[in-house]
Amino acid sequence: MPLVNSKKMFEQAYKNGYAIGAFNVNNMEIVQGITEACKEENAPVILQVSKGARAYANHTYLVKLVEAAAIECPNIPIVLHLDHGPDFETCKACIDGGFTSVMIDGSSLPFEENIAVTKKVVEYAHSHNPYVTVEGELGTLSGIEDEVSHTVGSYTRPEEVIEFVEKTGVDSLAIAIGTSHGAYKFKPEQCTRNEKGILVPPALRFDILTEVSKKLPGFPIVLHGSSSVPQDYVKMVNDFGGQMPDAIGVPEDQLREAAKLSVCKINIDSDLRLAMTGTVRKFFVENPSKFDPREYLKPARANIKELVRHKLRDVLGCAGKADECK
Ligand code: G3H
Ligand code: 13P
Ligand code: ZN
Repeated sequence: MPLVNSKKMFEQAYKNGYAIGAFNVNNMEIVQGITEACKEENAPVILQVSKGARAYANHTYLVKLVEAAAIECPNIPIVLHLDHGPDFETCKACIDGGFTSVMIDGSSLPFEENIAVTKKVVEYAHSHNPYVTVEGELGTLSGIEDEVSHTVGSYTRPEEVIEFVEKTGVDSLAIAIGTSHGAYKFKPEQCTRNEKGILVPPALRFDILTEVSKKLPGFPIVLHGSSSVPQDYVKMVNDFGGQMPDAIGVPEDQLREAAKLSVCKINIDSDLRLAMTGTVRKFFVENPSKFDPREYLKPARANIKELVRHKLRDVLGCAGKADECK
């Protein structure tokens, strides 16, 4: 089936208490690993492309890779989404160039300016034929990702959400409730240890999520920065020459909880990077004489696939939901 926007997916996800996985894509193996898992699990999916991904792989290559995935996986709905669109021009280029959904990230702007640029993108996207869905953001995520860096985060203010959604006409809203981008979401000193000695980060601000949802009944909420930073992959990276001390993510049980509430889209990128990097590092150490990229990219792609399968089944709850989202 052709690429779709996120409208039907979010309606179903909201109604039935699950979330759609929004996975970042940068190359062929990542697209394949994600969509092969979704195909086998019969799951709807959002493939998202950041400004950095467009700079790295080129807009056309990414669109064509995602279109190829849609041909290879004809029975699952796939959204091609711009992640953290920095301005109107980038959103317009993506809308004109085959994306079915865009995010305009005005979250670091003053409230009125965020409304103005988001409204402009919405007007353009919604007048496009076919209709392109738009995600806006209120509140900023702290984090260390270069392209979307906000060194100081600020939680979403529930008292602002109705005005923002009404004035802009956005289709979904990303909110800040304590997640952040990258693999270092919490400092060890912010965490406690459970009975197995594993670090447990502070809970997300579910009180803010609940207040936002009360003000916007039926409206889809988005969570960025939702990688869980699997400790098996952190260990693999560190065991095979990497240095990622104290990498900590969002516990999966909290994401599962959010997916049952109003959160309809959960963004995951860092976990894919860790799976790929850990696998490639291990391969190089164990096979020092090999130099065929297919030999190390193949297990990396396979591990991305297994990681995504786990997210679909055990975290997001969207496995088996492709048909109702068409
Ligand atoms: O939100 C950030 C995503 O992980 C994309 O990261 O800007 O390095 O492509 P990137
Ligand atoms: P992570 O860094 O937690 O994977 O977040 C990705 C993200 O929010 C993309 O927009
Ligand atoms: Zn993000």
